Amino acid sequence: MPSTIIETERCLIRPLALTDAAGIFELDSNFEVHRFLGKNPIKTIEEAENTIKFICKQYTDLGIGRWAITDKATADFIGWTGFKYIIDPINNRVNYHDFGYRLIERYWGKGIATETGKACIDHAFETLNLDTVYAMCEAGNVGSANVLQKCGLIQLETFDFDSIPHRFFSLSKKEWQKANRF
Ligand SMILES: CC(C)(COP(=O)(O)OP(=O)(O)OC[C@H]1O[C@@H](n2cnc3c(N)ncnc32)[C@H](O)[C@@H]1OP(=O)(O)O)[C@@H](O)C(=O)NCCC(=O)NCCS
Repeated sequence: MPSTIIETERCLIRPLALTDAAGIFELDSNFEVHRFLGKNPIKTIEEAENTIKFICKQYTDLGIGRWAITDKATADFIGWTGFKYIIDPINNRVNYHDFGYRLIERYWGKGIATETGKACIDHAFETLNLDTVYAMCEAGNVGSANVLQKCGLIQLETFDFDSIPHRFFSLSKKEWQKANRF
């Protein structure tokens, strides 16, 4: 199993591996998970495997990609979190680290996105030494916006993405240091 990148109270965060295909399938075949993500869930395990291969290629090509969240006690796959390096413009911005997360539905409402998200943000500034992280969510995705705000991100603006209103957020290392009183 790939080595742990971040440990939180309840979870381990580590690189995704092809052995996560069943977990990614449970995650991405659920319409509820995709309600604010284009409403186009996957239908086959091959699509789940391709998602993992795509992210593993990002690890190699771009040095970073989303990471698996697992249950520390059981090693069960919960979802993913972390950073994607954006190389195609979004909201007229490019070459930045996007913070995001996606959890299997039965793990919602337990504070896991916030717990693991805060740990990722700390890791971004303490270990990866990033200058700024960015994030976006559909305007109607109240849960996701709450997670972003609980992780310290600040809304910059709203914009249309695929003709749907989205909120765009950022957090700089200076803002993070100020909020954490370093
Ligand atoms: C969005 C998502 C990651 C939230 O995960 P979670 O672990 O349930 O979030 P948390 O438990 O850390 O919740 C953080 C806060 O948001 C609130 N919240 C979570 N989901 C909510 C919802 N659907 N509506 C309103 N508030 C919500 C929680 O109550 C909590 O606030 P509180 O501490 O004041 O009670 C999860 O629902 C998910 O994976 N959704 C599908 C994928 C997705 O939309 N990803 C984001 C794309 S931008």
